[in-house]
Amino acid sequence: MRIFSGIQPTGRKHLGNYIGAIRQYVEGQDRGDPAIYCVVDLHALTVPFDPHALREHVYDTAAMLLAAGLDTDRCILFRQSDVPEHTELTWLLSSVTAHGDLNRMHQFKEKTARQRELVSAGLFIYPILMAADILAYNAHEVPVGDDQRQHVELARDIAVRFNERFGETFVVPEVRIPEVGARIMDLQDPSSKMSTTSASPAGRVLVLDDPKTIEKKVKSAVTDSGSEVRRAPDKAGISNLISILSVVRGVEPEQVESEFDGQGYGAFKTAVAEAVVEYLAPVRERYEEIRPDEKALEKTLEKGAERAHAIAHPIVDDARRVMGVGPAA
Ligand code: TYM
Repeated sequence: MRIFSGIQPTGRKHLGNYIGAIRQYVEGQDRGDPAIYCVVDLHALTVPFDPHALREHVYDTAAMLLAAGLDTDRCILFRQSDVPEHTELTWLLSSVTAHGDLNRMHQFKEKTARQRELVSAGLFIYPILMAADILAYNAHEVPVGDDQRQHVELARDIAVRFNERFGETFVVPEVRIPEVGARIMDLQDPSSKMSTTSASPAGRVLVLDDPKTIEKKVKSAVTDSGSEVRRAPDKAGISNLISILSVVRGVEPEQVESEFDGQGYGAFKTAVAEAVVEYLAPVRERYEEIRPDEKALEKTLEKGAERAHAIAHPIVDDARRVMGVGPAA
């Protein structure tokens, strides 16, 4: 079972990233053969960015993944741009990707609507690069949060279309989305997902927030005017906090509901805040130890890229060969 996932380099990874994805990466290390995780710096070029900050954010993100529990003896961790097969395969796959399919991508539409500056061609072909990330490793399983489901489905369609046109080349990957916590919502606007770019910083708990800040954000989370701690379509804020607490404590949402039955929102929010603080504290502490040593981080990424390249190279070579690109083998 080969596992692959990618994460964008930003300095502001939030609880949604952690619960929806990073937690699954750590869990996948012992199932993956191998588990491969990639900091996708090339994807970050598709929206406005600062070159200096980009490099720093790769280190921030790599350090965070290590602090969360990735162990490079048990997984491969690398920077996307260090393995040129990703960009080459993007081009090869573009020939079997329908323009209309890219037009249907929710994230493209959302990001285009938000973008005040240039809407780059890169933003449009972003999902092909993501498909290339996955297919270059013949990954069987792709752990992501719910917002990436459509992109992974497109990667599957691209693999199927390629195999039909040129012969069996790629594994068709399966998406893996957690049952609880696949879509952590914004604390200030629980109708939108928690995200790096949402309007209110109070709506997202950052993995590196200090305990006081976390407490404040959780306690001021928007809820409804009722008092019952239970999940319901008209109780988006409370439902979100129930999901968070159940993941952080490792219990079923029903257990959270029965524990707080009749207790009101105040006591419940206090418990959520405490649990989140406790959950993230060790990650923040390890991060503070790991992040300053950029040389060590660079070495870790370099070694990861060597291992990743050894897997991707023959697979992308096969794709070239079956497409008639380059000399015959
Ligand atoms: P990115 O960097 O935006 O997010 C990283 C992971 O966090 C998940 N996530 C969430 N999960 C639950 N609740 C939320 N509010 C929430 N917000 C984000 C995302 O689903 C993701 O799993 N395009 C990808 C990166 C990527 C990739 C890949 C992923 C590039 N290539 C290949 C898988 C396979 C992205 O921008 O993730």
